[in-house]
Amino acid sequence: MAEIIELKNVSFSAQEGIIIDDVSIEFKTSKTTAIVGPSGGGKSTVLKLSAGLLVPDQGEILYKGKNIAFMNPAENLEFRREGAFVFQDSALWANQSLFQILELPLKIHYPEMSDKQRGERIKSVTELVGYRKNLNIRPAGLSMGEQKLIAFARAMLCGPSLLFLDEWTESLDETAADRLIDIVRRKKKEGTTILFVSHDLRIIMDLADYVAVIIDGKLSVNEPKDQVMSDPQFKEFLKIGIAS
Ligand SMILES: Nc1ncnc2c1ncn2[C@@H]1O[C@H](COP(=O)(O)OP(=O)(O)OP(=O)(O)O)[C@@H](O)[C@H]1O
Ligand SMILES: [Mg+2]
Repeated sequence: MAEIIELKNVSFSAQEGIIIDDVSIEFKTSKTTAIVGPSGGGKSTVLKLSAGLLVPDQGEILYKGKNIAFMNPAENLEFRREGAFVFQDSALWANQSLFQILELPLKIHYPEMSDKQRGERIKSVTELVGYRKNLNIRPAGLSMGEQKLIAFARAMLCGPSLLFLDEWTESLDETAADRLIDIVRRKKKEGTTILFVSHDLRIIMDLADYVAVIIDGKLSVNEPKDQVMSDPQFKEFLKIGIAS
């Protein structure tokens, strides 16, 4: 059976040149893959391509064996509901309140929900991530860490079975980070497929089943974590090049 997400010979360029160069990778269903590599190497771009948020110049991106470029609207909606993304910069709408930001995915994916049910769901996910302040303010009123909590809460709203997490504990204190790590650990146990980018070796060691290394827009390795970590070259690279 096809894996949940597969990239086949994917390339992506911007005006400045090639950002992702002929990457082929499959992300195994119900497994957690850490995408690691030096800054500017293309980790966020690979994650966005995998989630269908960027369109490749060449190659194919498959979701459960189907090219996402050719999915019909119903299939596309299912992909959007199952997959949830936490952006490196949180990407909260500047001109909406936190409540409105959290309300929108529920309105799209669960139009039958009442206002009361939506309110309860939003309360439960914000409590889950440990955000206890006002939801009627805009993102500009939050610290970077608080924005991350709201971005993470947004990703949890629709009960995703596929999670894309980009530097999802950055800017958080240890307690808040541990809380999110715990949530991801539980999602992993439930069988959620997780693709995450992190520079934190502790998190990679804790959560990853596979480690994919992206350097200069190219996939260098995608192997079980223990195999990558037992390779002295990558072990050293992960410690010095990434986790420092
Ligand atoms: N839309 C874009 N237009 C132009 N250049 C881009 C675009 N997106 C990414 N880049 C460039 O592509 C390269 C890879 O960016 P990307 O954000 O994927 O790296 P990264 O590995 O996630 O880095 P970091 O660890 O700093 O988050 C960078 O040089 C970046 O400037
Ligand atoms: Mg990045």
